[in-house]
Amino acid sequence: MISLRLYCILLFSIALVAGEIKNKVWWKNIVFYQVYPRSFMDNDGDGVGDLKGITDKLEHFIDAGIGGIWLSPIYSSPMVDFGYDISNFLTIDPTFGTMDDLDKLLQKTKRLGIKVVMDFVPNHTSDQHEWFIKSVNGEEKYKDYYVWLEGRENNTKPPNNWISLFSGPAWKYNEKRNLWYLHQFEYRQPDLNFNNPDVHKEMNDILRFWLDKGIDGFRIDAIIHVYEKDGFPDEPVVYNKLTLTTDNYLNLNHIYTKNDPRNYDLITEWRKTVDEWTDAHNEEEKVLMTEAYTNLTNLMKYYTYGADISFNFNLITEVNITSKPSEFKHVIDEWILNMPDGKVANWVMGNHDRSRIATRYPGRVDQMTILSMILPGVAVTYYGEEIAMEDNLSITWKQTKDPQACHVDPEHFKELTRDPNRTPFQWDDSIDAGFSTALETWLPIPDNYKELNLANQKGKPESHYVLYQTLTKLRSTSIALQNGTLKTTVLNNDRVLIIDRQSNNEAIVLLINFSDDVAEVVDLTDHLPGATEAIVILANIGSGITWRSMVLVSSIELPPKVSLVLFAKVDGSHSDS
Ligand code: BGC
Repeated sequence: MISLRLYCILLFSIALVAGEIKNKVWWKNIVFYQVYPRSFMDNDGDGVGDLKGITDKLEHFIDAGIGGIWLSPIYSSPMVDFGYDISNFLTIDPTFGTMDDLDKLLQKTKRLGIKVVMDFVPNHTSDQHEWFIKSVNGEEKYKDYYVWLEGRENNTKPPNNWISLFSGPAWKYNEKRNLWYLHQFEYRQPDLNFNNPDVHKEMNDILRFWLDKGIDGFRIDAIIHVYEKDGFPDEPVVYNKLTLTTDNYLNLNHIYTKNDPRNYDLITEWRKTVDEWTDAHNEEEKVLMTEAYTNLTNLMKYYTYGADISFNFNLITEVNITSKPSEFKHVIDEWILNMPDGKVANWVMGNHDRSRIATRYPGRVDQMTILSMILPGVAVTYYGEEIAMEDNLSITWKQTKDPQACHVDPEHFKELTRDPNRTPFQWDDSIDAGFSTALETWLPIPDNYKELNLANQKGKPESHYVLYQTLTKLRSTSIALQNGTLKTTVLNNDRVLIIDRQSNNEAIVLLINFSDDVAEVVDLTDHLPGATEAIVILANIGSGITWRSMVLVSSIELPPKVSLVLFAKVDGSHSDS
């Protein structure tokens, strides 16, 4: 008979082992970093980044304090939309290398403790995918893998008025099938038909394939576009003064092509697939992150239906350089207040579809980086933002590669192009900014690379990169940032924003002066009970404020445009979140 004591010891050790295997919610306080593989590091010297390049540079993530990376698509692709047009979901595009290169990358990330998340693109494939080729040929099994419809007016006009995100009709006539197929993006990106159960099966198999490879989760692309309204009715035309050309996406109110309720069920379905896999393999939980540009209610639904991280783009889409502290406060508070219980907040500051922070917030780039790191939960960094890279605004129409821009004209392309924010990472001041040895890189590197590069910022007493490192280190050591409460306050006639994080006796406070020309004095006595002094952990670069200096809590001076992070010991105990 096993003694009670031994039984307890056994139970305890089982719990320990289980604890080691199941590190639930490992992303709770992580910094995720988006790698755009074409532009991160080019190992083979062809001017385009690749997997070996990423592997060569993995130590950078450790140095920067990044816990996980998510990779934009690396699958086989004709590269019409630079990887978002996939011709085989289970193979690696030669531009990026081989499956062996990915295996090596994953071996090294595991050794270094860096999580790897893959992009998952369910809405569409490339027109070169064998499913589409078979569908065009009318092969029975594949006939309905895509959305095919007969056109209007004797099949001479598209089936309805829908417009593609990349401009022009969202339908393309195919002579062989004598039908029109739907493409919400480029015409070489046909939309899959999720009313077909076989398509669901294919997608679940793809998820399992990559889980078997050892990845840590998926970023789910363009989820709001997956299902369309049955019956395919015309969408209402809207007048939009921003409209550039008549066939622009903004001309319609997309009530039938976006936000279909069945999109949420897909997340639940994929959650189940992923969880079944982790249970069967007794592996750590995998993260699911959804990309959805939609309203707050819908964004919260993605959490409810199974996403761990419903990407929060609101600090990109809802505020800008002219916004007041109260508007920032509103965007932050509404996310936190509406999040379902037990979910983790997240703050995305940039990605391959949006202009870079330094370009959106001239002179205030650090303010936004600091904000994302001090707020609770996951911070998401787009590659290059750790050194405050800028958009390359000098890219000409001739140099333009982005299909979204190529589909308009030389007069309007600048308003749509995403090329300026996708240029190669600026590693150092050598040829091609240390990114490549090619004569020409796939997108031109901005002239500022001689000054603005990682090597130049490393080890400096103060630089954007050192600020970034200081923030990630603070996140990994501060209990207030990991588990503390959050209080947002607007002071000084809506010119100062305070982000206050506290846990037990520790307080970390971010103060931002939004004014460009007026210095402010702030009294934080009420915020920091029992503290008379606080330490300046950091301030934005160029602020003139000395890091690690002391300030008086009752009169903190904030020069124009300055962001300050303070540490103070306080009385009282704030309950941990
Ligand atoms: C990606 C874009 C891409 C589109 C089509 C997205 O939302 O982020 O870069 O063009 O999906 O796949």
